[in-house]
Formats: sequence, structure tokens, C-alpha cells
Amino acid sequence: MNKPSFKQATLHQLQVFEAIARHQSFTKAAEELFLTQPTVSQQMKQLTKAIGMPLFEQIGKKLYLTEAGKAVLNVSQDISERFSLLEMTLADLKGLKQGNLKIAAITTAKYFVPRILGPFRHQYPGINISLQIGNSQQMLERLSNNLDDLYFMGQPPEHLDITVRPFLENPLVVIAPRHHPLAQEKNISLERLAQEPLIMRESGSGTRKSVEKFFTENHFKMKVEMEISSNEAIKQAVVGGLGLAILSNHSLTLEWENGPLVVLDVEGFPIQKHWYVLYPSAKQVSIVAQTFLEYLLTEGRELAQQLPII
Ligand code: PGA
Repeated sequence: MNKPSFKQATLHQLQVFEAIARHQSFTKAAEELFLTQPTVSQQMKQLTKAIGMPLFEQIGKKLYLTEAGKAVLNVSQDISERFSLLEMTLADLKGLKQGNLKIAAITTAKYFVPRILGPFRHQYPGINISLQIGNSQQMLERLSNNLDDLYFMGQPPEHLDITVRPFLENPLVVIAPRHHPLAQEKNISLERLAQEPLIMRESGSGTRKSVEKFFTENHFKMKVEMEISSNEAIKQAVVGGLGLAILSNHSLTLEWENGPLVVLDVEGFPIQKHWYVLYPSAKQVSIVAQTFLEYLLTEGRELAQQLPII
């Protein structure tokens, strides 16, 4: 009988295995790959035989990777990344820019990242783009699992070996309902602002962190009325009269000039933050991601700077 050997594993088996690991389900993997469930099971049987150890274990209704499964997944993700880099390089040699571009953006960046994708996609119709939006915890997890090509964040993570490029200014402003008594005032003092109820983002939000830092540095305490984990819900709550809020100016890109929200003129505001685009330094950046990065730091940046804001 032949000894088990990883070398007997086929690329197709690894692709099926990756899909199962991602979905934690044989059925969903079969659906994604347009295969029947018996074919998926058969492929996994053969892969398990080649490895010589079980790759999954079922606890209750949930499917978990075994230690061997985790090790195989690592290698198989590596292999598929290298294949996709090869595909993009070969297309580039043929004078084509095509392949997959995987972007991840932190919650508030959703206001400008999708807007700059349109012109890029028109320029390079052969590039398929996927965009994941998540909170800072999810960004860090994606980054450490090397799931995407590029990441947009408001605060580059410390203690990680990453390459960071500043992309755009991110001013945080105080917003109020149009008929608020402070709406017509100029140069409102921080002392006055501190008397107003504030609606805050959830802990873990980059916006919240900067607002807290700003108040601490200026020796004022905030009067937090409520915590809401969505910029859109916060804007609605402000219009509804629950309080004022401090949000990225970019969250106002679809507000209109005579709409229900105004930006207050408060001393020390806007709080100046930045948006950054980053990737792990050890990552081999694909031709497609390099092309996007170049677009981003030239035309993309110009476009983002011109987005209308109230
Ligand atoms: P958010 O913004 O986490 O508050 O959505 C991103 C940031 O400013 O870091």
C-alpha cells in the first residue's frame, strides 16, 4: 500500500478543501463550486487519504478544522495565492490587466472607497473587485490572515510589519439638526459643546477613539447621551433630536446643502485625522493591486478630494 503523501493531493482537491473550510460546510462548498455533494465528499476522502490524517472534525452540527486541516489550509492558501499572482503576471505580459482585486475597508471608509472604484473599473474592465467592510477588529483579523490585497483604515495598527501610505484627510466635524439653537452661532466654545448631549460611536471605533482623545486633551468631559454603532443611525438620531454627534465629514457626502443636518462651527474643529491604505510588508503585491495603488494615489485621491460635502 502507498504511504500517504501530500504530493498526491491535486489542486482541485485543495480548492474544494478551501471552500469547505471557508464555509464550514460541505453543502455550501458544493454550491459555490457547482459540484454535487457526493463529488465534494469523494474529493475530501482522497485528500484525507493523501494527508493520512483527518482534516475536519464534526462537533455537534459544526465542522471544525483539525490541526492537520489548519496546516493544509495554510499551504493551500499559499498555493492559490501564488497561482493567482502567476495568472495576473501572465495577463500583464500579454498586455492585459486582469485578475482579482480584494479590498477591505473600515466602516467609515465605506463613504468614499466605493466612489473611487467606478472610474478604475471602467479603465480596467478585466479586473474583478471585491470590497469587504468591517470594524477595526475584523480588519485586524483579515490583515493577519492575509485575506486581502489592500486595506483602508483610519488608524494603522501598531506592532505589525505593514507598509502604510497616507491617502486622504479625514476631518471629524460636529453635526446638529438644522434648527438647533447652536446652528447659527460662530466659534462655539468647547465648554458650550460639552454641555450638549452627544451620540457616540461604539468602543473600538476609530472615530470614537479620536473624539475621546480630543476631549481628554482639552480637559473637558463629554455628556454621552447614547451609543450607536452606525454612522447612518447616528445621523438619523441627530435629526430626531437625541443629541449632537462628531463624525467624519465623509459620512456627509450624500447629505444636501439645505438638508436636515448642519455642521457646527466649534473651536478646535475639525479634528484632523487621515485615511491610510496599507498592506503587509512581506506581501507580494499583485500587478493588479499595484495598478490600483497607483490609481489610488493619483486619480483616486483627486476624485475623493472632490466629493461634495455639506
Ligand atoms: P470607524 O472609522 O472605525 O469609526 O468607522 C475609522 C477610523 O477613523 O479609524
